[in-house]
Amino acid sequence: MAEVRTVVITGASRGLGFASAVRLYNEGWRVVAAMRSPDQGVALLRDATGADHDDGRLVGVRLDLMNEESIAAAAEQIEALVGAPHALVHNAGIASIGMSEELDRDLWSSMLATHLTGPVALTKALLPVMRAAGRGRIVLVSSAGGVRGQPGIAAYSAAKGALERWGESMATEISPFGLGVTVLVAGAYDTDIIDDRAPGYPDYRIWDGPYSPIHHTMDVRGHFAMRFARPPTAFTDGLVKALNDRAPFRRRSAGPDAAMLMVFNRVLPSAAMHHMARAVMGIPRHGALRSDAPQLTTPQRLMVRAMGSLPPPVMNRLIVLATWLAPNRSSSPSAANGLGQQAQRTERQG
Ligand SMILES: NC(=O)c1ccc[n+]([C@@H]2O[C@H](COP(=O)([O-])OP(=O)(O)OC[C@H]3O[C@@H](n4cnc5c(N)ncnc54)[C@H](OP(=O)(O)O)[C@@H]3O)[C@@H](O)[C@H]2O)c1
Repeated sequence: MAEVRTVVITGASRGLGFASAVRLYNEGWRVVAAMRSPDQGVALLRDATGADHDDGRLVGVRLDLMNEESIAAAAEQIEALVGAPHALVHNAGIASIGMSEELDRDLWSSMLATHLTGPVALTKALLPVMRAAGRGRIVLVSSAGGVRGQPGIAAYSAAKGALERWGESMATEISPFGLGVTVLVAGAYDTDIIDDRAPGYPDYRIWDGPYSPIHHTMDVRGHFAMRFARPPTAFTDGLVKALNDRAPFRRRSAGPDAAMLMVFNRVLPSAAMHHMARAVMGIPRHGALRSDAPQLTTPQRLMVRAMGSLPPPVMNRLIVLATWLAPNRSSSPSAANGLGQQAQRTERQG
């Protein structure tokens, strides 16, 4: 009979971690569901999986990644319960919204503790037993912000980027012992972390401050984009693939949007990525919000308003097209240039 594989999933109380715990339990894994409130969370997992109270294939462990003692206690409990896990999925996460200038130091601390230093401490505590077993996969759930810093979520992006760099370093260190790391870049899934209206979501935006025009545009576009987020269960296909990875290091995507971003980031120069992100989010061009920036004329303003009423997918396509056409703009004025300039004015207005 095949050995039952054990997986530890952090943040298994809801969202992607919950969906992953259910999927892996149903596929025969032994699931250690690590979470801040196992009393409630494991009961929900039992409801979702049909697991009995005494089913050793579904166990809960209390874990708060912001608390060193909780991490040490969780690692001890995991080792006592299952020995060396076959897989450790660092999934727990938090988000916030606001420009770098608006964020405070506490937010940076909690972001880095949850996404980086907490996972590092838990991994450090479990590595001796995993090394001794000579096998194990560590999966780091990253995001678009980990591939490339995104506006409005700088602390989250920085924490995810650091998580990815840590994973790359560690993969090379632990590979000689038979262990491997997968960075799993998730696209947009319909969970609380993408919803700025969810309870407990720290919102640092100052609506009447200097970033006000950007906040308003990004807010509209962000809520529109949320409509295309996929259900959390769809994420689990990517996780299942990650858990079957055998290479010492692998970076893979979960979701078509994440796959597309990774390809763009590989093939496009950094400056193009910057302009594309700016255009998609509706952020004005360089210098447009300076106090001495030239004001739009009335016809220009009307044109911007007309462009703004286009459905965002159409708008985004036009902007991507304009980004591609932009380098020719000065040398050969054409119909395409007109399009690029229209899009540019729209961006300037935000
Ligand atoms: N959803 C997306 O579109 C998306 C996209 C890219 C990447 N991701 C990443 O996917 C992962 C899961 O996110 P999600 O979408 O499932 O978000 P979610 O629904 O908000 O769930 C977040 C999970 O993290 C847990 N958590 C937060 N702080 C914790 C702490 N200090 N200690 C232990 N657990 C903690 C939460 O536990 P409580 O219930 O106790 O709060 C919850 O289980 C995150 O790393 C996120 O960055 C998500």
